[in-house]
Amino acid sequence: MAYLLGVDIGTSGTKTVLFDELGNTIANDLQEYPLYQPEIGWAEQNPLDWWKATYTSINNVILKSKIDSNEIKGVGLSGQMHGAVILDHQNEVLRKSIIWCDQRSSKECEEITEIIGKQRLIEITANPSLTGFTASKIRWIQNNQPEIFSKTKKILLPKDYIRFMLTGEFATEVSDASGMQYMDIANRCWSEEVISKLGIELDMLPKLYESPEVTGVIHSKAAKLTGLKVGTPVVGGAGDQAAGAIGNGIVKTGVISSTIGTSGVVFAYSDSVTIDPKGRVHTFCHAVPGTWHIMGVTQAAGLSLQWFRNHFCREEINTAELINTDPYILMDKAAHCTSAGSEGLIYLPYLMGERTPHLDPKAKAVFFGLSAKHGKAHLIRAVMEGVVYSLKDCLEIIREMGVEVSEVRASGGGGKSPLWRQMQSDIFGTSINTTNSSEGPALGAAILAGVGSGIYKNVPQACDAIIRIVTSNKPDMMLNNKYNKYYSLYKNLYKSLEHNYKQLVAIME
Ligand code: XUL
Repeated sequence: MAYLLGVDIGTSGTKTVLFDELGNTIANDLQEYPLYQPEIGWAEQNPLDWWKATYTSINNVILKSKIDSNEIKGVGLSGQMHGAVILDHQNEVLRKSIIWCDQRSSKECEEITEIIGKQRLIEITANPSLTGFTASKIRWIQNNQPEIFSKTKKILLPKDYIRFMLTGEFATEVSDASGMQYMDIANRCWSEEVISKLGIELDMLPKLYESPEVTGVIHSKAAKLTGLKVGTPVVGGAGDQAAGAIGNGIVKTGVISSTIGTSGVVFAYSDSVTIDPKGRVHTFCHAVPGTWHIMGVTQAAGLSLQWFRNHFCREEINTAELINTDPYILMDKAAHCTSAGSEGLIYLPYLMGERTPHLDPKAKAVFFGLSAKHGKAHLIRAVMEGVVYSLKDCLEIIREMGVEVSEVRASGGGGKSPLWRQMQSDIFGTSINTTNSSEGPALGAAILAGVGSGIYKNVPQACDAIIRIVTSNKPDMMLNNKYNKYYSLYKNLYKSLEHNYKQLVAIME
């Protein structure tokens, strides 16, 4: 039996999973690391923390699995997208990485739009300039830390820094690189026009591959730290969203995924480049060679519930510890005791600004409709519903773009909650399925490693062999009707508050 390793460098930690060639989990390990938030709206991580977590988790997985590492035929990397890692001439990290959810670069987005031209930028990179994308983060460093930028030799994404530490190669692949905003998305290559206009040299960027291609092999120093064999191939892999989609079988028209992780993502496959002219959803290259994907992003999905848990659910955390369960299970039970619509309470999940459908880093979260009859359970339910309204915003735009939606597959931590799954079904008005893949992006990365190492012929064939539907929630159309009324109010609330967000930020500056 051959084995494949999937490594996902996430926001809360690195998760490494060893699979057999049928996609069964043999062993897994998670190593966490801190997130630094030195100012409101800023988010940074230390790439050396990712590296330590990665070699430790790979080593733990190999030890736990008791498998001879000669049997591991390939490694696939997945990771949080967009983060900017910059290295100097000695390949040392120059500053902490400014990661995906950091919102400091609004001014830089305006600059980028002006330099390239709004239309031209969308024509080439398929997206408007966003604070979430790498290009505006790098521009912020150029503007605010020129002494650091002048020392920059390489610009890498989080998982590609790990690839460098594992193989010594500077390489990336099209799905993650799409989110840097330096690519010509239709032609799947770096855009010399964009990078030269933004003051970036072509050789600062890593070599670009398709996701299943082999980008390098494990070198001896990494082999000692990880327990992997020298020479084990490392494939391109994918950004966490594309890798998660592969692990969920989103490799054909009509099958959409709805993922509630830290962020929330509605992800659709496309065999042509389809762009939302308003830039509300992203069009990126998919990890299936020669195809693309569209995704709408809710900045704070699981993050909203996590925020609520951390600040207001001490009781649930303590009780969960006592009875050896997860506090989210207790919060789910509490929310379940209240009714659809949270008795008139609506939550807007803009804790970290928003991307879809409002490209607005200034947006803030809101509880609307709070009255004396509401208690904690209503607030929990409203948070969960608000996240799903925001995912429905993404789904509606994807439908508007003419993309067929015949099946929605739920995944991420939120997909594990039966209540959150049923809410998605009721609010979207569609069936919600889950698959046998519980390992998320790590499985997608391992599938890509399986294709790159020749175990599978191609990505769709691998998905067919591995992925099956295991649960299905059907919508209650009466509740759908009720939720639709709340959803239209939810949509109006942003419009009413848009200018107040600007005022608030101006006061705080
Ligand atoms: C996708 C995105 C997030 C991060 C973190 O565009 O920003 O999903 O990849 O998971």
